Amino acid sequence: MNPPFPPRPTHLAWTLLREVIRPGDLVIDATAGNGHDTVFLAQCVGPTGKVLAFDVQAEAIHATSEKVSSLDLAHRVTLHQICHTRMEEFVAPESATAVMFNLGYLPGQDHALTTTAAQTIRALEAATRVLGPGGILSILCYPGHPEGATEADRVETWVTSLTDHGWRVAKYAMIGTKKPAPFLVAGRKP
Ligand SMILES: C[S@@+](CC[C@H](N)C(=O)[O-])C[C@H]1O[C@@H](n2cnc3c(N)ncnc32)[C@H](O)[C@@H]1O
Repeated sequence: MNPPFPPRPTHLAWTLLREVIRPGDLVIDATAGNGHDTVFLAQCVGPTGKVLAFDVQAEAIHATSEKVSSLDLAHRVTLHQICHTRMEEFVAPESATAVMFNLGYLPGQDHALTTTAAQTIRALEAATRVLGPGGILSILCYPGHPEGATEADRVETWVTSLTDHGWRVAKYAMIGTKKPAPFLVAGRKP
């Protein structure tokens, strides 16, 4: 079966990142969730690379751990059940090639356990410091639920301000949807 067109923002993020991540790189999944993005990143960095993945929920860490183990990728991945605002405790400044955020809640779990605007902005600021020059920040926002709408607004304003510091930033979304569509923001550090 053909993939949907236009591509979903989740897959568009992969398409953009696949161009940039090289074997041996260090990359970060700031919201591990069910592990789909962590697996994608682990495949991109190859056997010599490293993925650090963060999530506050035990269920997410468990699901991601199972997924990477079943695909024999566990040695490329380190999982931390910790808030992504703390990523700098585990990653040296300017050492990462990419940081991915897939905001919101874990599908099938408690929707109240969602990312929040204040923590997300703090984590994004940390991400700008751990990314090396030319590194990519990818953020998937879900404005279709109330906390997500506030968060998406804050993220868009914050990420736009990066352009004052030489970042190139783009936003991608479907148009003409009934509810506000999820959107992808991708930026490159100068
Ligand atoms: C949409 S899901 C991520 C999907 C995931 N990337 C995947 O490929 O399956 C969002 C995740 O963010 C996590 N999360 C919420 N607040 C967080 C925080 N402060 N730090 C890290 N993760 C958080 C949630 O527990 C949830 O698992």
